[in-house]
Amino acid sequence: MIEDKSKYIESIRKMWDEHAKRYDEWYATFEGAVEHYVDWELLIRYLPKNRDAKILDAAGGTGRITLPLAKMGYSVTLCDISPGMLNVARQKLLREGVLDKVEVLECNVYNLQFSDGSFDFVLCWYGMIEAAKELIRVTNKGGMISIFLMNKCGAAISMFREDPNSALALLRSEPSYVYHDKEKHMAVSVEEARELFVKEGIKVIEIYAVCGMLKFLSIPEKVRESCNWDEKFFRQVTEMLLRLSKKSSVKGLSRHLVLYGERI
Ligand SMILES: C[S@@+](CC[C@H](N)C(=O)[O-])C[C@H]1O[C@@H](n2cnc3c(N)ncnc32)[C@H](O)[C@@H]1O
Repeated sequence: MIEDKSKYIESIRKMWDEHAKRYDEWYATFEGAVEHYVDWELLIRYLPKNRDAKILDAAGGTGRITLPLAKMGYSVTLCDISPGMLNVARQKLLREGVLDKVEVLECNVYNLQFSDGSFDFVLCWYGMIEAAKELIRVTNKGGMISIFLMNKCGAAISMFREDPNSALALLRSEPSYVYHDKEKHMAVSVEEARELFVKEGIKVIEIYAVCGMLKFLSIPEKVRESCNWDEKFFRQVTEMLLRLSKKSSVKGLSRHLVLYGERI
């Protein structure tokens, strides 16, 4: 069993090492830039006022969020299981002159090496709800968490056309899993996410719908994949998605949910 788990982790590490060099390319496209903008705009509402605050970016990959946080002056710990992703992050941080603001560590989010309450703000922007207890443990009392979760309804809607049996199984069973490449993620609804985090001692402040919403605006693939765009249209699209991200009536549709909460 332990051997199976370590083989699984090894295969995930290898997969992300292989993606590392190309991971940031998608964020240079219209769709990637829109999603990054929405993620960031939601995050900055909750960042600590005190720039001495300690932030953990768990499963932080190539430092998409670590980099702007370090530029704002925060002390950031970036941890990830993939040395390839972390190497890309190191090069970017060095190029931007903020590598000294960031501790870069190779580690598994299911087993963090930090003592209880080490961080004022903990981010984990990858759907790993099973790591929630560990992420909460390292958050200071009164500190904040921001966690991406796989959205059960959104996943079922996306997979229905190709695989109706799995889509229905996902909605029927509890808990439910979504398979993506080699990875297995537990998926939750907005209500399940809220209940789960409240049980773990989190005051849930808001849950937003993020990622994969662009397809509902029927924007042509050519525009979504383009690396040049009209700024006015970009602003209209991002405003639309930011407004929709908080509407209970559409929260089930997105690929991910991002939960913001305070550890009490
Ligand atoms: C989709 S990327 C997200 C990176 C970053 N959070 C972002 O939003 O751009 C997923 C990252 O999770 C990392 N990861 C996957 N499983 C992990 C684990 N068990 N512990 C730590 N990192 C993990 C991968 O190596 C990869 O860098």
